[in-house]
Amino acid sequence: MPTLFTPLETRPGETRVAASPETVKALVKLGLTVEFEPGAGLRAGFTDAMYTAVGAKPGAAASWGSAQIVAKIGAPTEAEVARLAKGSILISFISPSTNRAVVEALRERGVSTLAMELIPRITRAQAMDALSSQATIAGYKAVLIGATHMTKLCPLLMTAAGTVPPAKCVVFGAGVAGLQAIATAKRLGCTVEATDVRMAAREQVLSLGAKFIDVPGMGDMEDKGGYAKEQTAEFLEKQRIEVAKRVADADLVITTAQIPGRPAPRLVSRAMVESMRPGAVVVDLAVESGGNCELSKLGEVVEHNGVKIVGVPNLPATAPQHASELYAKNVLNLVKLFVGKDGALNTEFKDEVLAGCLLTHGGAITHKVTADAYAAVAGAKS
Ligand code: NAI
Repeated sequence: MPTLFTPLETRPGETRVAASPETVKALVKLGLTVEFEPGAGLRAGFTDAMYTAVGAKPGAAASWGSAQIVAKIGAPTEAEVARLAKGSILISFISPSTNRAVVEALRERGVSTLAMELIPRITRAQAMDALSSQATIAGYKAVLIGATHMTKLCPLLMTAAGTVPPAKCVVFGAGVAGLQAIATAKRLGCTVEATDVRMAAREQVLSLGAKFIDVPGMGDMEDKGGYAKEQTAEFLEKQRIEVAKRVADADLVITTAQIPGRPAPRLVSRAMVESMRPGAVVVDLAVESGGNCELSKLGEVVEHNGVKIVGVPNLPATAPQHASELYAKNVLNLVKLFVGKDGALNTEFKDEVLAGCLLTHGGAITHKVTADAYAAVAGAKS
């Protein structure tokens, strides 16, 4: 029977794990032997005993090299890649645009890498879409973290001592994280306004009971994959003027705007922060890809004229149990696409979801966009 191994994550601050007791049970039922590194699930609330109770076996360092499938959360280090068996399957986030050495190491080792961030954003793949499952958690936590840093409360309160008006929240980017942030801020009682460059986002924002900040001349800035295209300087300037008015008046600003494979757009300038009231808060969810706010610093809470700018990385890791349960389900659903009867592995990866996220396979970089981007860098250097 093929073995699937889940190691302990080694990235500092990572608390999640790629298998939950529920998914271990299902993986065993599929005909796989499941091994885990002792302690792998502890930070997410899953003890070794919980895993063994559903049929998993404690593994060891050697399990990296003996497993046919390794499932993890964060990109492996080059040392970890060297421990993978030649021809094995790796399921993980990789960040190919910033992790070229690891991708080349995976290619050289002949590993079939299924990169979680490359899963196509199509309806059929929703159950495997880890970007979405984790962004949902990030959007929710961004509001809670912002609320605890604010000097105000969120809801309208009518008390004998007076009326407290609702806090004003502005959300940049109404993708998966942004929509969850909007819903969470609404639930906490804030009034919410949001901005995005995709027309489709407008309806979704309105359906959550929030206001959409219209920008004159907004065209459809969505690419074929449903992602935002890089915007023109002219559009960004118009958007900045419109949104700056709201930011000056906001108590909580949540920024989630990203463009895949590129640095995050700069949307909240120093001047905009300086227009905000002391006690207001900016939570920058794009801080790991350069930040939407000019003053964000990765891993820090920066205070500028009394305004706090929160740059906490890896927000899903702050809710490790649910984040792991959802991620583990994404992994299970992906595994089901290439594991047949009695655990037989189909390693052709012809299915459109598998083919879409297959980053390396058979000694080649099989993801065209990544291969082209690497070739372009090599071309520019020569
Ligand atoms: P993302 O994390 O790449 O970006 C977040 C949001 O920021 C997006 O809505 C984007 O349009 C917006 N943005 C980019 N530049 C901006 C700017 N200058 N100002 C304001 N907003 C800006 O997006 P996410 O959440 O990964 O979703 C991307 C797309 O994929 C969305 O259209 C979403 O609906 C779609 N999607 C489809 C799925 C499916 O059908 N399986 C699953 C999940 C998402």
